[in-house]
Amino acid sequence: ALNRSYSTKAQKHSERSYNYVQPHASYKVAILGAGGGIGQPLALLIKMSPLVSALNLYDIANVKGVAADLSHCNTPSQVADFTGASELANCLKDVNVVVIPAGVPRKPGMTRDDLFNINANIVKNLVEAVADNCPDAFIHIISNPVNSTVPIAAEVLKQKGVYDPKKLFGVTTLDVVRANTFVAQKKNLKLIDVDVPVIGGHAGITILPLLSKTKPAVTFTDEEVEELTVRIQNAGTEVVEAKAGAGSATLSMAYAAARFVESSLRALDGDSDVYECSYIQSELTELPFFASRIKLGKNGVEAVISSELQGLTEYEQKALEALKPELKASIEKGVAFIQKQP
Ligand code: NAD
Ligand code: LMR
Repeated sequence: ALNRSYSTKAQKHSERSYNYVQPHASYKVAILGAGGGIGQPLALLIKMSPLVSALNLYDIANVKGVAADLSHCNTPSQVADFTGASELANCLKDVNVVVIPAGVPRKPGMTRDDLFNINANIVKNLVEAVADNCPDAFIHIISNPVNSTVPIAAEVLKQKGVYDPKKLFGVTTLDVVRANTFVAQKKNLKLIDVDVPVIGGHAGITILPLLSKTKPAVTFTDEEVEELTVRIQNAGTEVVEAKAGAGSATLSMAYAAARFVESSLRALDGDSDVYECSYIQSELTELPFFASRIKLGKNGVEAVISSELQGLTEYEQKALEALKPELKASIEKGVAFIQKQP
């Protein structure tokens, strides 16, 4: 089943979405930060899903117009808008999947960790509301620095007594999307067939594409491995620099997040063949959080695909060891942020 690339299934699925005929929509999705650069195109893509019956859009401002606009699309989901903290609880009632792209993006010269001071608080407050109103929902964290915001979310959920590690996900799908695109371009492969697992975390060298595990099997020279790995690791910065102060990736991120939402909904809907890479609480390495390929099921993470960490090349093995200190520090920073709160 792992050999089957997601892209093929995604394609089939989106064809179904566009040619929507028979309603079987039944899931409720909320986007927190829905008025932003990621939130708006993500809302559009989720509005196209035949699996969604309700799409709740929350932001601190500018979400009413987005919802009014989107609600005119003749796809099954009902769109509703929620503005400001007083409407957050209502936004989250009975929601199955909560996606969180709220927070500030990078400008040139910044690292993702430079966003910590602002975004840590935003994620803390939003996840507290999730814990209070829809503790059983799948939670997709997009807000950076993901390496720290996911541990922050976990600590908040623990304090609220509702932490289910199988349902908390750091969204790293964009790293996989980029790896697939860049590898297909470099090796002249049909894009739809290419599947590269990406492990570790979501910042700089903590992003580790396992090029040796690319499907279909393909060989790379040492120079190609170095060039592709560095490009995938710096792809976020590539976009930040091209946008020159106007933010970071939004459209490709919305595409990637919509894929992860669709995969989660298919898993909830009983599809037994759903695999994605995601940054989760993990026992795969000595680090408490780690991105790897997982199998998704009705209850969230059903299995961690540990076999992909076996038989790594020397390059990958070294890169894996090299990323651990940075990832560990980012995890500890997130945990400490919550544990030190008065
Ligand atoms: P943006 O500034 O365009 O949008 C962010 C939105 O969040 C705004 O509409 C803002 O009003 C809203 N917001 C701020 N505080 C909020 C709060 N307390 N509650 C609800 N909403 C709030 O930014 P963007 O480009 O959409 O990026 C959002 C985040 O996603 C950034 O942190 C960025 O670094 C991150 N990101 C992650 C990935 C990834 O792969 N995981 C990819 C791209 C961007
Ligand atoms: C990305 O990978 O595009 C995001 O994490 C945004 C960023 O700051 O690079």
